[in-house]
Amino acid sequence: MQHPILILGGTAEARRLAGMLSCNPRYAVQLSLAGRTRSPAEHAVPVRIGGFGGAEGLAAHLIAQNIAMFVDATHPYAARISANAALASKISGVPLIALRRAPWRRQDGDRWQSVSSVDGAVSLLGAASRRVFLTLGRQELLPFQAAPQHRYLIRSVDPVEPPLTVPHAIYLTDRGPFREADEARLLREHEVEVIVAKNSGGGASYGKIAAARALGIEVVLINRPPLPEVPAAETVEGIVRHLAHALPPL
Ligand SMILES: NC(=O)c1ccc[n+]([C@@H]2O[C@H](COP(=O)([O-])OP(=O)(O)OC[C@H]3O[C@@H](n4cnc5c(N)ncnc54)[C@H](OP(=O)(O)O)[C@@H]3O)[C@@H](O)[C@H]2O)c1
Repeated sequence: MQHPILILGGTAEARRLAGMLSCNPRYAVQLSLAGRTRSPAEHAVPVRIGGFGGAEGLAAHLIAQNIAMFVDATHPYAARISANAALASKISGVPLIALRRAPWRRQDGDRWQSVSSVDGAVSLLGAASRRVFLTLGRQELLPFQAAPQHRYLIRSVDPVEPPLTVPHAIYLTDRGPFREADEARLLREHEVEVIVAKNSGGGASYGKIAAARALGIEVVLINRPPLPEVPAAETVEGIVRHLAHALPPL
């Protein structure tokens, strides 16, 4: 007999957590992806893909699969699924633990500005043409069409299709982690003046932040959305410890 565990994934940490738990015979782990990327990364555990149909759908899945505990290891900006997870836990009675990465903290030399939305970032860029590096999801790029005066460098996991209706945009497709030295080379090569990014936290996408600091480049960070208050750990190791404590050997 094993403890069935569900991981809500879509992040590098969720993948690492799945890898760690898959080595422990105490758990039978399933990982869930929203299905946003065309060719998702390989995982060490069975993967299901697609939405559940809201909190009620997720609660029904937890009950049908006899899940002992589930982990919200989605991205800190994926607010809807995190809210659904909290509600599904209440509906089903299946305990939830969230992996909540700490945000990056400002350090000496950082030239950061915070905005509460992507539209706020577009306004902050101003009227004069600038060289802007956008590291946002495809869905968040559309507001930049209102500022066609800038020269954009846009990086995403999948191609941006259709491309933005702006005259100057270079598209890169790549998946992290990104090293500081490579990010510095990219920023210099494209003479980037300002980066617009999310405060994702963690190491996989911190390279651009460190490189921007070293090069004196401005960074516009979009504030995190509010997330529900649930039991949480900041690291993958913290989640593993929590599960080991909450789900003793059968
Ligand atoms: N937002 C970001 O910046 C970002 C960055 C990197 C990776 N991701 C990953 O991409 C996925 C989608 O992000 P999002 O911003 O679209 O989320 P979202 O706005 O919070 O979720 C939208 C809907 O997508 C479905 N969904 C999201 N994550 C899911 C998962 N892991 N498994 C099954 N269904 C899921 C749910 O549909 P139903 O209501 O039908 O269940 C949810 O209501 C997440 O897994 C997240 O970790 C997001």
